[in-house]
Amino acid sequence: MKILFVASEVVPFAKSGGLADVAGALPKALKKLGHDVRIVMPRYYIIDKEKYRLKPLEGSLGVPLGSYGELWAQIYEGLLPGSDVPVYFVEHEAFFGRKGLYDENGYAYIDNDNRFIFFSKAAMQVAKKLRFKPDIIHCNDWHTAAIPLLLNTQYAYDKDFENSATLLTLHNLQHQGRFYKGAMDVLGVGWEHFNYEELEDFDGVNLLKGGIVHSDAINAVSRKYAQEIKTQEFGWGLEGIMQKYQNKLFGILNGVDYEEWNPAIDPLITQKYDHDNMKGKKVCKKELQETFNLPQREEVPVIGLVGRLAEQKGITLLSQSIAQMLHMDIQIVLLGTGEKWAENFFSDIAAKYPDKFACYIGYRNDLAHQIEAGSDFFLMPSLFEPCGLNQIYSLRYGTLPIVRATGGLDDTIENYDPLSGSGNGFKFYDATPQALLGTVEWAVKTWYENPQAMQHLIHHAMQQHFGWEDAAKAYEDIYHYASSKRKCRQYQ
Ligand code: ADP
Ligand code: GLC
Repeated sequence: MKILFVASEVVPFAKSGGLADVAGALPKALKKLGHDVRIVMPRYYIIDKEKYRLKPLEGSLGVPLGSYGELWAQIYEGLLPGSDVPVYFVEHEAFFGRKGLYDENGYAYIDNDNRFIFFSKAAMQVAKKLRFKPDIIHCNDWHTAAIPLLLNTQYAYDKDFENSATLLTLHNLQHQGRFYKGAMDVLGVGWEHFNYEELEDFDGVNLLKGGIVHSDAINAVSRKYAQEIKTQEFGWGLEGIMQKYQNKLFGILNGVDYEEWNPAIDPLITQKYDHDNMKGKKVCKKELQETFNLPQREEVPVIGLVGRLAEQKGITLLSQSIAQMLHMDIQIVLLGTGEKWAENFFSDIAAKYPDKFACYIGYRNDLAHQIEAGSDFFLMPSLFEPCGLNQIYSLRYGTLPIVRATGGLDDTIENYDPLSGSGNGFKFYDATPQALLGTVEWAVKTWYENPQAMQHLIHHAMQQHFGWEDAAKAYEDIYHYASSKRKCRQYQ
């Protein structure tokens, strides 16, 4: 199949979260299955053209942007490192020549509607320029959710897209691309689509909603999340639409790129190790304690945490239980950036408990790897988690996840059962500080009192495999489903 994979962030070029990990790995796995995959992403200012050897395509690309008329873009071509998957970068200084991807200093760019509607249209134009007639256009999140709508309207009679079906992957329903209704004029698809069944949402435009309605298939990034988003608790107002379109809604768990996240070959950690030889993990732990200025004690359990400091990640629960948690003989290492109150709060905790709690406020990939390798437990108390990648990385690093049973966390973590000794982590259900605290206490008690059970859990966790091969095959099935739906529609 010819697959146009469109995403707003792709590892290693630009990343704010797990979407980039997925967009940098799934296309490689699809390519291995024999598909012709091309990625399109914005050329943000931070992407170094020389480092990645990006070559400009000849001529510039015209992008019709509704009431703004035609704008121009330069397209650069490169390769996804470690593969022969082509990546096309859309360069347009006024929209992407900035420091951030979506925001700066905590404030979202006010023209994000124009930026990503432009990007969505540019992706269609890139396909035309390349004479690449996609069988599938695989869109991701709200940034590219305008594409299914565009395909059904402006490009409906375009021969280049006559066989193109769309899949929209939902990585996070909280972010929907809600804008002032003037965005209709930028889309330029006609105000008849501004109605409650399509784009309208509280008198504004909701790009994700439009994408859900207009795509041939949709999928969430875990089975559990595909169920959850049909409920009021997790639907962020779109639960009705999710229920309405549940027949075309699937759940596919993300995989892991084990070339990136594997302690046996990880160049970013102090000493490599695997489940047969765990000596290296002890060295990594010592090094981590040193890096974070914590006492170098082998016997104390280290709990790691890496992630966006956003409400989604359960930071309030953590803030409400941390003081009590630190009564135990434990060490916590946190790496994250996000909400200002949380950055300040956790920095204060670090100052107050220098022997027990350390944090780095910022974004550091090397530290993320070192925390995976040097910790004994990995904490993810998320309120909701569409998939979550760090808990799956942790399994391979022999760092037992302590998670809340939601979304992908629930799908991937099997609770420790003291009777049979089975499981790969520790799980709690209620979104309360008490439940979080109780489960951390349980994990710590197991560490101190039952080293054998710990070893068994770690051994099991490290041998589990969540590769992209299986996920890519599941995507293949959905592509076929979407294509057949598109064909049926053509004959109607
Ligand atoms: P989300 O996409 O909701 O942020 P995921 O668990 O899917 O959550 O993916 C987060 C990814 O971003 C992981 O690869 C994680 O290591 C990385 N990450 C998050 N915050 C940081 C940070 N401060 N420094 C380095 N890497 C980070
Ligand atoms: C989102 C979700 C996260 C998921 C990631 C990749 O950012 O918050 O749970 O793992 O997308 O699909």
